[in-house]
Amino acid sequence: MPGLAIVGAQWGDEGKGKITDLLAERAEMIVRFQGGNNAGHTIVRGNEEFKLHLIPSGILHAGKHCVIGNGVVIDPAVLIGELDGLRRRNVAIGGLKVSANAHLIMPYHVLLDHAGEARLGKLEIGTTKRGIGPCYADKASRLGIRVQDLLDEKILRTKIMAAMEPKRQLLRPVAKDPKLDLHAMTEEYLTYGHRIESHIADTAHLCWDALDAGKQVLFEGAQGVLLDLDHGTYPFVTSSNPVAGAACVGAGVGPRDIDEVWGITKAYSTRVGAGPFPTELFDEVAEHLGTVGAEVGTTTGRARRCGWLDLVALRYAVRLNGMTGIAITKLDVLSGLDRLRVAVSYRGKEGARFAEFPYHQSVLHHATPEYHELEGWSEPIGEVRNLEDLPAAARSYLDFIADFVRVPLTLIGVGPARDEVIWLSGGAA
Ligand code: IMP
Repeated sequence: MPGLAIVGAQWGDEGKGKITDLLAERAEMIVRFQGGNNAGHTIVRGNEEFKLHLIPSGILHAGKHCVIGNGVVIDPAVLIGELDGLRRRNVAIGGLKVSANAHLIMPYHVLLDHAGEARLGKLEIGTTKRGIGPCYADKASRLGIRVQDLLDEKILRTKIMAAMEPKRQLLRPVAKDPKLDLHAMTEEYLTYGHRIESHIADTAHLCWDALDAGKQVLFEGAQGVLLDLDHGTYPFVTSSNPVAGAACVGAGVGPRDIDEVWGITKAYSTRVGAGPFPTELFDEVAEHLGTVGAEVGTTTGRARRCGWLDLVALRYAVRLNGMTGIAITKLDVLSGLDRLRVAVSYRGKEGARFAEFPYHQSVLHHATPEYHELEGWSEPIGEVRNLEDLPAAARSYLDFIADFVRVPLTLIGVGPARDEVIWLSGGAA
């Protein structure tokens, strides 16, 4: 800190919500910088569970400034739903600021996402069907509608018309969908504009003010770096950049504003949607991880694919993001497994050995992992708060990871609740 970026080090769902929630206590401002409501955080607070897709979980801390940055794509109906839900549960929402430059997910983006996946058939990406890809595509095509457009009826109508017309061709089978009526859509989005007007701001400026005043700012990424549009397992990726570098673009700050980068990884691996996953398992270990880890997507309710921790991929994530620390979540889920495995290299189809994450799609698709085997432990660890109190096998597991990727571990998650963590010296400020 003052500028700390938190990124998912795998394929998303690493438990960033809980870590951000913990770190938010020390931060002055929490900024989401990419993605949209394809993400989902479940935060447990006492007996209460909060599920958030767009609003940074820092909102649960009274008095914090929470920012949805320009790099995020916003479905305004989802945003308003979350605001209403928080208000009903007496959470103060005045601290939420939404970038006027963030792009809006429109009804035709959602329809295009569905149609695109249907057209791909067996080759589908397995998107969350929230319209994320088509929205970012419109942004790059300069046909996007931005939050600020909601405040001017004439501009809004003109921009929707220009953006929607080309979509009608692509959406011919659903072109008569009432959701694609220009007048109704403009009215609907104007109403959204009125609802969120008090939250709309020049958020980059807010970040600069906080950083210049030496306040702690947490940049919160969504998804994970292996879903990065440029560096992930393309084309089985999301349409934004979850890497730490994207915090600069998606929040409007410079590289020197980010002092630390924490990667969050589970103690094993999961993935939702299609695409390569070298350490994926289909046996009773996968069953154990899925059941004990409750591996069901927060956003889509899909069962997650499960496998061993992949250190080849983790080392790649470390370098790509310049990570200064790693938080490991869900270590408790491994309790009860006799032997543990971590991937330390891959073998390609022709037998070649890969010590580094291969850039070539066909190599990765056929890669089989080479494992290092470690002893497991049987005892539950949910009550442990100090590293020394973990079973020796669990400590060896953590040591092996830290040695392999050469980055200090900062925090270990041993259960879903807020206090079920072990802070390590690198993490405790
Ligand atoms: P999209 O982001 O909806 O376009 O989906 C593209 C890919 O990213 C699919 O494989 C999704 O399952 C995956 N994905 C998107 N958001 C998340 C997330 O928050 N966690 C895990 N996977 C995600």
